[in-house]
Order: sequence, then structure tokens, then C-alpha cells
Amino acid sequence: MKRKSIVSLLLGTTAATLCLLVLPASGAVEDVNFDVSTKAPGYSVKGRRGAHKTKTGLEIPLELKHSHHHEGIDLYGKTIKDLVVDVDFETADRIHVKISDKDQKQVPVPDSPLGIERPRLRKSAKKRNYEFKYTEDPFGFQVIRKSDKAVIFDTTDYPLVFEDQYLEITTAVPDDANIYGFGETTIPHFRRDNVKNVTTIFARDAACPFYENIYGHHPFYMEIRDGKAHGSLLLSAHGMDVLTVEGRITWKVIGGVLEFYIFVPDDDKPNSVVQSYTDLIGKPMMVSRWMLGWHHCRWGYEDIDQVQGVIDGYKEHNIPLEVAWVDIDYMDTFQDFTFDPVNFPQERMIQLGHDLHANRQRYVIMVNAGKHYKSGYEGYEYGHDLDIFMKNPDGEEYVGQVWPGYTVYPDWFNPDVSKYWNKLIADWVELTGIDGTWVDMDEPAAFCLGSCGTGKKDQAPPSLEPWTLPQETQDQMYAEEEIAIKNLSNYVQDSRDLLYPNYAINNGHGNLSVKTGSMIAYHHGDIPHYDLHSLYGHAECKLTRDALIEHNKTTRPFILTRSSFVGSGRYAGHWTGDNASKWEYLKSSITEIFNMQMFGISYSGSDVCGFNDNTTETLCTRWQELGAFYPFARNHNAKQPIAQEPFLWETAAEATRTALAIRYALLPYYYTLFEESNRLGTGVWRPLIFEWPHVDAFLDNDDQILVGSDILLSPVVYENKTSVEAEFPPGIWYDWYTLETVDDQGATGKERAITLDAPLTHIPVHIRGGAILPLKTPTMLVEETFDSPYILLVALDDSGEAQGRLYIDDGHSLEPSETSDITFTFKNGVLKAEGDFGYSKPEKLDTIKIVGDIDATTASITDCSTPADNLELVKEDNAIVLQNAGIDLTASFTVRFE
Ligand code: GLC
Repeated sequence: MKRKSIVSLLLGTTAATLCLLVLPASGAVEDVNFDVSTKAPGYSVKGRRGAHKTKTGLEIPLELKHSHHHEGIDLYGKTIKDLVVDVDFETADRIHVKISDKDQKQVPVPDSPLGIERPRLRKSAKKRNYEFKYTEDPFGFQVIRKSDKAVIFDTTDYPLVFEDQYLEITTAVPDDANIYGFGETTIPHFRRDNVKNVTTIFARDAACPFYENIYGHHPFYMEIRDGKAHGSLLLSAHGMDVLTVEGRITWKVIGGVLEFYIFVPDDDKPNSVVQSYTDLIGKPMMVSRWMLGWHHCRWGYEDIDQVQGVIDGYKEHNIPLEVAWVDIDYMDTFQDFTFDPVNFPQERMIQLGHDLHANRQRYVIMVNAGKHYKSGYEGYEYGHDLDIFMKNPDGEEYVGQVWPGYTVYPDWFNPDVSKYWNKLIADWVELTGIDGTWVDMDEPAAFCLGSCGTGKKDQAPPSLEPWTLPQETQDQMYAEEEIAIKNLSNYVQDSRDLLYPNYAINNGHGNLSVKTGSMIAYHHGDIPHYDLHSLYGHAECKLTRDALIEHNKTTRPFILTRSSFVGSGRYAGHWTGDNASKWEYLKSSITEIFNMQMFGISYSGSDVCGFNDNTTETLCTRWQELGAFYPFARNHNAKQPIAQEPFLWETAAEATRTALAIRYALLPYYYTLFEESNRLGTGVWRPLIFEWPHVDAFLDNDDQILVGSDILLSPVVYENKTSVEAEFPPGIWYDWYTLETVDDQGATGKERAITLDAPLTHIPVHIRGGAILPLKTPTMLVEETFDSPYILLVALDDSGEAQGRLYIDDGHSLEPSETSDITFTFKNGVLKAEGDFGYSKPEKLDTIKIVGDIDATTASITDCSTPADNLELVKEDNAIVLQNAGIDLTASFTVRFE
């Protein structure tokens, strides 16, 4: 990574001055306050009764300690004197520690599907992998892992600050700790820089500036210490800075309460931490099979002919295209649920859906959060009648600006909003036949500051894209908007300064209300946007999912969202937003997807070939190669840049064909991994350290990717490189293309670092010895691919053994009535298939390929309902292949190789 210098202006923050912010490569920010508030008096356990047991744990009342001359009090807000600590021993691997104000005035994350539903507990867990200890004066707490007595969370050496708009807490961590997570932010490296680093968390529409806060809000991290992992979530939707500094992690939060969940799984494994985390926040949604195909999109197609041209282009060049997307271009003046009558006429848009479906392809169209503030437009009128839009403090509708001009914003926290949304979504799906929705600008995004459209119904703003106006005009507009928002703040009945809180988190836009909903816009129940901001997209996803299910009760909904919060993965997939066609973004996409997997959003990916700026042939070729393996795989481009359909360059086309043929061959494996993710929470993409936490070399390996635990990708993500410095975990690894073992290619014994050849159109892919992979014969389409018989690829380990799993259902039902869950094992020359065979449609297994050290001349199938007649055993390089097996995967069976 080149050293990056990003300069941004902090507008309207506390200091009310303009200050220059320079971000060096580490993400350290010179003028962020990294200190802990040592002068804060802290709290002590209150009263004679002190801490007492509850059914689920402990309750500890706290009071502010005495402070001379008010020193350290009201640092950035109003000090709250009486607190309560609720400690719940929720499960063996999860403890909940909530520090809240006794009077319950602070706003926590809603205990509902629009926030996070807390577990309803009746008693505390008996078996616990952790101990909880606390100190009385001052109050601090520790969480200790029982198995090795490691103190994994420890606030005892640091002050607790609890003010209405400033909460500070610190845990000690080892120097140079291995910390992963905290987001959403674009960073090149998965392992966090813990020397002097700040991660700001606050949902924000920004085109992925490195190290800054962007679309999603995920205050979760995992630490790996001596090969053992634990995790921690600060469940808060308020803006915050998280300082990961040598020896400590400090949270500085501008509201709410301090609600921690700490995850300590039995086996200390990173994947188990993710399981434990998603036990709380919800498991990632189950995908339909088609969602795993290749997607193509672009902003800026001028008309529907161009969209058709792209679909045709894929076909002509024999590149799979599963899903065609249409961006805001289709809309009539950028209004959701309308069509541009000239360039994207309704009949043709509907016909396009029919045509795609006739070809077994799919269709996704965009929806934005803001709705045009316009008379006669249903998206406005219906919501206005139901009174479900966000409000200004004076009770009028809050009117910002997005693509169509002035816009109002549905308040997803209003109980009547489902009526509105269910109707609009149902009508839209009915009309267009789309297979899913793309929910964008849901931070929510806005192009002006505050309610700039108040009193301007049916009027057009000075420009639909105000950032294109001369700087002077923009400054002038901003100044006027700032006066207007300040005037509106006179109506606010809140003792807090919601617009300009004294503690200025390092929000990339400075002023919290810039480019998003105003902090003094109101949600149902008179809750200011300040307290719910980062939940807006999350709540929209939940209600969109409900609306899609309400319309079609049997099919898994498809939603792709830009903004996300803790637990959004159960409702939607996520793409990492507006990256750029630069090598740095190809590289950082790995980290971002790793993070999303850890945050419980398995179905995630980045815009392949890059969104902003012009791509190049080599960059796009390399990106297609890697993007072909993203859990969510889509090429997407912005309006201005040159076209980047993969068929435009011979190298990109060739690389795409090769890589997608591997993805499509692996579809049953991917689908099985997604089922596992939906059931357990584990990621589909995994960093090597998640599978081999004891191998120190993997702690900062973020160049290679494991798909599940059995496929290792070693992509080229640096310019001008035609080889990869790869690291290999213990055991045998087979080259996907040649089936040669890595050892044969030069890595021997303990020496697991190896240089792999990777000419431009080649992505190195390896198979773990010991894996059994269910495969298909790849075609141009997902369902056609699934129509072909299964192939089992048995890759033997050092002892000639292997295991694998296959999940089967109909590929799309919300609650599939029949499923199979098959375990394959190979040992002593015998392949066994056992498990649940509930899926009654006969799925054929025709080919069994055994790779590695095996020397058999005959094969026989036993215990099988449909034994094969024409068995054929063929010897290939490094493999033997059993053909015409003709096995129905409806019952257990055994194949003996001798
Ligand atoms: C936003 C989205 C991007 C989309 C564009 C136009 O920038 O992030 O994906 O293409 O809006 O709708």
C-alpha cells in the first residue's frame, strides 16, 4: 500500500474551526484525542447492599466518586451520577455486561428486530467458560477465560466516564495484540494496526476513503492470543471512536449506554467466536442458488438497449451471466418505482424481466431510501397520508435531497411504515417480476445539510448533483443550510446538543448531519435521528425483507444493502460500496469481505473491476479472477468511467471464463457453505488464521483466502506481478488445475512459503488434502449447472483419508420441505455417504474422482438403492476417476476401491 494522505475538512464540529486532518498509512490521526480521561473521578459500588445476585447474574449499583472542584466531570457532556451494571451469564460462551444510567434516559439499541432482540433469559448459565470479577472502588471489571486464566477483558486500570453525550471505557490488551474487526471501514489489512489507530464507527455515505467510517456500523472485534480467540461487541448504535493503541482499546461514544457482550467459546477457535457472535445477533440469511451466479451491473447505461447489449455480450463471449441489474437510470426523474418513459419504458423493462426469466436468468433493480417530495407521486402521497416520514423538530416533514431532488425519508421505526412499504414493494414486484431489491443510499444518504427542501415541494433544487456546482456556490448553500438547521434546533426539546456534540468523533464528514439525515430529524416516539442514525439501513432491510416475504411467502428474499448494522446479515447481503478502480481496492476487498464474514454478513462482495475511475485491462482481469470467488460476485461500475464488461478485453474474458468455470463447478460446495453459515454463522470466505489460529505466520496473512476450509485462493492483487508469495497450512494441498501437490512444486516439509506462478489470466487455486468436495459440471447458468449430475472430488490427506459434506434442498424455498445433509468419508479405500437423505428428488452422483496417493484397479458400490451397471475406473494424472457411478443421492452408500 502506498502511503495515503487524505485531507478532509472538519466542518462545524465543537471547535467550530476548520482543521486539517491527515491520515497516514496506519490510520492514525494526529489530532484525535488518544488519551484516556485520567482525571475523571470514576464510579464506585454504591450503598450498603452493594452488588447483589439476580436470576441471571449480578446487579451492581454505581455512584460517581467524589471529585474535587468538579475535576474530570462533564468532560464533553453531562455527567450521570447513578448507574447500574447488569451482568448476565447468558450462556456458556457469552457474558453480557451492561452499564446504563439508573434513570434509563439514555437510548440503547432498540430491543426489537429493528435493532437487536435481546435473549430472554430466565436463569444464568450453569456452565461458563469465563469468570467475571469486579473492583468496588473505583469500579472496574474483568472477564477471565477459565481454560487458561487469561484476562480477556479488563477495565480495572482505566476510568469509566458516563455522560449523556460522552461515554468512555477502556480495556487492557497485550502489546501488539492481534485484533480483527471494527467497521465498516476500508482498510488494506485485516489485522488491525494497534500502535496508534482510530476506527470511527458511524454509518456514512462516502466513496470508501481508506481508514474512515463508511456505510456500516459494527463495533465488534475478535482477538487472537496464543492461538486462542475471543470476541467482544459493544452493542451501541451511537457514533464512536475506537482507539486501538499499544496495550489498550478505548471506546469514546457519544450517547447511549455501554452494553458489552463478550464471547468465549469452548474450543477457543476463531470460527467458534463467529458462531457465538451470530448466536446473539442472528445468523446470516440463507441464499437461493441463483444468487451464487455471476451478477453484472452498471450505473450510467443510457437506455435499455445498452442493458440488453451487455446481456447479449456475455452470451456471445460465452461468459456466464446469472443476474442482470439495472441502476437508478431506469427511473423517471430518479423516483423509486417509476420508469423513464423514453429510455427505459415500462413495457420494455417488464419484457426484459420476462426474457431473462425465459433464459433462466434473474433480474434485480435498485430502490433508494429517499422518496421524491412531489405532489401526485405515490411514493410521497401514500406515505404522507399515513404520516410515516421522518419529521423535523417542529413536526413538519423532514426534507433532504437525493437523486430525484428534494426527498422525504420513510421512518422505519414508525409502526405504520409497513403498510406503506408492503404495498409499494408488492406492487413493484408484481409489476416488474424482479427477483430482488437493491437497497441503496440507506445510511441514509443526503446531498444537502438538514431539511433543505422544507417549503419546496414540487420545486427542483439548484442542482441534482450539487457537488458539481462551483465550490463557492456549494459553500454558500452550505452556510445557508447551516443557519436553517440551527433555526430548527430551537424547537428541539432535548438538553443535549444533538447537532454539535462536544466530543467530535472523527467522522469523515466532520459535522454529523452532513450527507445524511439531520441529527435533529425525528423518528417515531420522538427519538432524534442522533440516537438511531446507524440503524436506518438495518431497519430498512428488515422491513424490506418482511415486505418481500409478505408478497411471496415461499421464496427466499434477495436484498442487497449498502448500509448495515450488527445483525443485518440475517436480512440482507452487502456490497462494500463505492470503491475505485485501483489496485489498493482490489487488495482491500479481501479484508472488507473477511470483516463482513466476521460481522455475520456472509453474502458480501465488492464492485468487481472497481466503481469510480477508469479500470485497466490488467486490473479488471485480476479483479474478475478474484471476484469470481467473492461470496457475492458482481461487476459494477459508476457513470463516468470507461466500460468494464469482462468481455471487452480478451484477457479479462479468458480469465473470467476460467475462474467462473471453477466457481460454477464449486456451486454445491458454496451452497453447502452458505447453509452452514445460515445454521452456524461461520463465514464462507475465511482468513487462514481462522482455520489455523496457532500458525503465527497467518496472523497477518490477508492476501490469501480460504473458501470454507477446503479451497485456498492465492490471487494476484498487486500491479505488475505474475507470481504470488503464498503460504500453505500444514498438510497436502493440490493444485486445482493440475492436481499436483504443492510439495511437488517446491514447498517441502516445514517450508510452507512458496512462490506460485500466476500469469495474467491465472488465479492459483488449491484444494486441501483431506477434503471431499461436491462439484457439478459448470455451464453458463446456475440452475443448468445444478441439473448436471454431482461429481465428488476426494482429495486425500497424508493418511489417505478425507471428509466432506453436501447440503441439498430445492435451492430457493424459504422453508424447504425436503433437505439432505450428507457426510462423506473416505478411509482405507472406502468411500461412505451417510446422513439425512430427506430430499426425495433423485440427484445423481456420476463421477467420483480420487486425488492423491491411491492405487486401485476396481471399484464396487454397495448398500445403494441404484447400483451402477457400467462402472468405469479410469487412471488420470494424480487421480483415479470412477465414471458412470449412477448413484441416486437418496440413501446412504459405500464405494470400495481396491
Ligand atoms: C451509489 C451506489 C452505487 C450506485 C449509485 C447510483 O453511489 O453506491 O452503487 O451505482 O449510487 O445509483
